[in-house]
Amino acid sequence: MIKVLILLGIIYSFSQAVSGENIVNLYGCMECHGIKKGKTAPAFIDISKSAKQKRIEQSIKNGSQGKYKNFKQNIMPEFEYFTNQELKEISTWILSMKKNEE
Ligand code: HEC
Repeated sequence: MIKVLILLGIIYSFSQAVSGENIVNLYGCMECHGIKKGKTAPAFIDISKSAKQKRIEQSIKNGSQGKYKNFKQNIMPEFEYFTNQELKEISTWILSMKKNEE
């Protein structure tokens, strides 16, 4: 029964319009990142202030290290399997935080 419910949950979350926020929650980005406070990685709100869309997408696809001085020891893993559309959803979601803050 539990397995069926978990499966339904997974199907349900995939059938939702895949917004940047959904992807970030689904792929474990929040293990390292927070929205407003960094954990082992910079907070998304700080990223939104220091990176442009293209760089954000490239860093997610190819990984990154050394761009944020408080996190120099840590590595952003590469997520090369995201489609361009998914990368765009994520970067747009991150950058939307900048506007909300102002
Ligand atoms: C294992 C920890 C970890 C996970 C999981 C992780 N990140 Fe990161 N991320 C980092 C670290 C560390 C940095 C800082 C890299 C740097 O300083 O260059 C970073 C940086 C970034 C940046 C900023 C890149 C730039 O060029 O400014 C973005 C955007 C980002 N991560 C998005 C994501 C997304 C989206 C996911 C999930 C798909 C994710 N991260 C998962 C550790 C992680």
